[in-house]
Amino acid sequence: MAWDILITNIKGLAQVRDSTPTVLAGLAMAQLPILDNAYLAIEGGKIVDYGEMLSLSNATANQVIDAKGRFVFPSFVDSHTHLVFAASREEEFVMKIKGVSYAEIATKGGGILNSARKLQQMSEDELYERSLARAFEIIKTGTGAVEIKSGYGLTVADELKMLRVARRIGRETPLKVKTTFLGAHAVPTSHTKAEYIELVINEMIPAVAEEKLADYIDVFCEQGFFSPEETELISEEGKKFGMRPRIHANQLHRSGGVQVGVKVKAISVDHLENIGEEEIKALQNSSTIPTALPGAAFFLNLSYPPARDILNAGLPLAIASDYNPGSSPSGNMSLMVALACIKMRITPEEAFNAATINTAVAMEILGTHGSITRGKVANVCITKPMPTFAYLPYSFGAQLVDQVIINGELIN
Ligand code: NIG
Ligand code: FE
Repeated sequence: MAWDILITNIKGLAQVRDSTPTVLAGLAMAQLPILDNAYLAIEGGKIVDYGEMLSLSNATANQVIDAKGRFVFPSFVDSHTHLVFAASREEEFVMKIKGVSYAEIATKGGGILNSARKLQQMSEDELYERSLARAFEIIKTGTGAVEIKSGYGLTVADELKMLRVARRIGRETPLKVKTTFLGAHAVPTSHTKAEYIELVINEMIPAVAEEKLADYIDVFCEQGFFSPEETELISEEGKKFGMRPRIHANQLHRSGGVQVGVKVKAISVDHLENIGEEEIKALQNSSTIPTALPGAAFFLNLSYPPARDILNAGLPLAIASDYNPGSSPSGNMSLMVALACIKMRITPEEAFNAATINTAVAMEILGTHGSITRGKVANVCITKPMPTFAYLPYSFGAQLVDQVIINGELIN
């Protein structure tokens, strides 16, 4: 038998599981299976075999990669990004350093509205080119599947433009892409909030659904943005068009975002910098996945989600990058895992499970992604030589993902 790719002498094959039935919660998150001295075989874009080197007998492959001293793990699944945007916002970064807050910048027409102005002026092709460069940047750092939101359009035409670009990234790059309509990200100055919500509900949602541009619907539930009642209204409307909600919740305040997320049966509630017992209780009676975005908490100098309390409550935890120009200008998932370990005091095993299996559940792709499992899509990362797997988050900021294979193809 000749495989397409055979990786041999793998020091540790991480996140290897014969099956992945469900989300990992509580204590189960502490276990990260690693097979020592292993091989991995890829055929037809899929993972077809793995095992200990000792059990590998005279196999042949078109390409053999010797991974001596190196680890192999499944590509990261990044379940929350705003990867499609027009331009960076480092001028606001400098304002924040000088003491102006994220909320103050937003009230002065900066923030999301700043990004919207730039995006509205940009052609769809130019927006695609810029976003494509970011897509390849995250591929290089080990991401194999990504959720991408709209929300910098804020007009019918520009929200559609963003989502078309996101869909095109899914077609024209090896990334697995799911898209989310986030029209309710901010209220443009051209409308009152009531008028804008009407536009979202009566025009945007039907237009997005008509072109099948979004898998999910999101709302920025936050003081100064959208209230829990408005979040519920918009989410329920999206559901009528087949878009399951995922909610920006509790980033800046205890906004009631988690409770409304649970109420509308959101697949995930993301951010959670400001939650306590009440929100954790609400999550315990739900299948909504709490998702931390440590890059945003880090960049905005916010407190971090109480990850340990979440796990002690027996809940699952997912970790995503929130890659966006305003609050997390990085889509590097190794860095997110490191920040989670360092700032949220969770173990490398927990953080890694959160950024692969649990984000795959949050994107509804666990059947094909998120682990080294026979039959799953061959999305894997090969590290540089490392002494242990924990070395990856330990050496935060280092680029330890050396080679990536997506859909069974080695990316150059
Ligand atoms: O997830 N919080 C809302 N949305 C983004 C940031 C948007 C922006 O500042 O451009 C976030 O952090
Ligand atoms: Fe976000």
